[in-house]
Amino acid sequence: MASQNIYILGIESSCDDTAAAVIHNGKILSNIVATQEVHQQYGGVVPELASRAHQQNIVPVIHQAIARANIGKKDISAIAFTRGPGLMGSLLVGTSFAKSLSLGLGVPLIEVNHMQAHILAHFIEEENYKKPDFPFLALTISGGHTQIVKVSNYFEMEVIGETTDDAVGEAFDKSAKILGLPYPGGPLIDKYAKEGNPKAFPFPNPKVPDLNFSFSGFKTSVLYFVQKQTKENPDFIDENLKDICASIQFSIVRILMDKLKKAVKQTGINQIAIAGGVSANSGIRNALVEAEKKYGWNCFIPKFEYTTDNAAMIAIAGHYKYLNRDFSDFSTTAQARYKF
Ligand code: KG4
Ligand code: ZN
Repeated sequence: MASQNIYILGIESSCDDTAAAVIHNGKILSNIVATQEVHQQYGGVVPELASRAHQQNIVPVIHQAIARANIGKKDISAIAFTRGPGLMGSLLVGTSFAKSLSLGLGVPLIEVNHMQAHILAHFIEEENYKKPDFPFLALTISGGHTQIVKVSNYFEMEVIGETTDDAVGEAFDKSAKILGLPYPGGPLIDKYAKEGNPKAFPFPNPKVPDLNFSFSGFKTSVLYFVQKQTKENPDFIDENLKDICASIQFSIVRILMDKLKKAVKQTGINQIAIAGGVSANSGIRNALVEAEKKYGWNCFIPKFEYTTDNAAMIAIAGHYKYLNRDFSDFSTTAQARYKF
């Protein structure tokens, strides 16, 4: 198999990023992302606008991915696409385009679960990056999901804990919105947190059983705290932004780390990989580096470009499905709630 030349074109369109990537035998040749700016003014993703922007972006993005990879369309071995989970109108664009391209080029079609792909991004061939061994635990943290997954093999994954309401990315973005920061606020909280005092304002750690999470109460506690403080001092946010951000980030990271510790204890697995947009966060990255020293864990932190939504992760998932000859037929449909 290794001597085979496998070129996978990956297509990602589950939310507000239109992305395409080409991977050759597991190595990235191109990785193009068109981020949709249109949602910023609305403070969140507007599904109908996302779908329309995908339609505008998908042809140039795929063209660019193939051109950057320096290959021809005839070299492509298979088309991998995000079947779900995500926004229906967004998924439909990528799904339909992938089907027509697969039909036109006469190559196999491969459906990919977006959340599995976030985890499989750890298997992209990179210099100086050690891949995790099976089994490992994946903490998938994004704008739509918060899960602890036991990964026994490439496609043998079991969700052992998840959020019962908001995702951790929403906790970041909604807290940022309360502070008057633009969408998506997660990276901005991270930026300001770097210069603030994480212990300045303590936020409660929600009591949630097992390995599950809940973030809707967290967001409410940030709201009530800010409302109370600004009543006493209308300039409270401006005067304390860095400390508020550092405190929010510290509390969110503590919630995630507490559950991870519990999961390690429960499963006996101390290999931890993080995945998804929130794994770009410096607080969680630092906490994992510390946990390696403190608890002897072995942690895997992806490169920045593979944390937020991208098509390289869809292409690598497609690569492993290609090796298994796990192809889809044209009756496959987009799935807004796609479990694995
Ligand atoms: O995986 P992703 O790109 O899209 C989804 O599938 O949801 O994740 C996007 C989420 C957003 O909530 C964004 O605010 C958050 O990831 N995010 C961050 C950081 N970078 C992105 N949150 C905290 N700190 C960051 N540095
Ligand atoms: Zn994602």
